[in-house]
Amino acid sequence: MDAIQALKTRRSVRDFKTTPIPKNVIEDIIDCARLAPSAMNQQVWHFVVVTDAEMRRRLAHTCEHGAHVGVAPVCVLVFCKDTNYYLEDGCAATENILIATHAKGLASCWVAGEGKPYANQIREMVGVPAGNKLVSIVPIGYAALVPTPDKTPLSQVLHWERY
Ligand SMILES: Cc1cc2nc3c(=O)[nH]c(=O)nc-3n(C[C@H](O)[C@H](O)[C@H](O)COP(=O)(O)O)c2cc1C
Repeated sequence: MDAIQALKTRRSVRDFKTTPIPKNVIEDIIDCARLAPSAMNQQVWHFVVVTDAEMRRRLAHTCEHGAHVGVAPVCVLVFCKDTNYYLEDGCAATENILIATHAKGLASCWVAGEGKPYANQIREMVGVPAGNKLVSIVPIGYAALVPTPDKTPLSQVLHWERY
């Protein structure tokens, strides 16, 4: 799958099969994440990959709209050191995870972490030191159901030269 096709066909999946994912596939997805652009190339991110079923169940209960975290066999937690651009950096890395995941025939869904009341609790649950911010929670698995959300047409969002 080329990059354009991956970008145009990725969808957020919340219904996963429980089929395990080979470790080398996850490593390659995280390798794509750590190659994302970052402000001043500071690369302030750390990625915690959770596969333990009990820990995933706890994460699913802790975050607000993330019940599917308990079903997908892998959950990636994206943390960034609290710098001026940590949010942009963490979001760039998260998007790389979503696209790499889809390109590998897997599925994922960005679950909110940044600024959420449960962010610090999750940070402590996985032993990440204070001074790091949870940016996103990304369950990964094989899709059981791929939704088709409405998308605003290009003609309504593209403005040439002026709004
Ligand atoms: C910053 C951000 C936070 C999100 N948080 C959640 C979430 O907590 N739970 C969830 O199920 N989906 C979450 N999503 C996924 C969106 O609901 C999804 O991207 C949107 O409905 C569009 O669907 P698509 O990703 O298939 O294009 C989040 C997406 C973004 C970018």
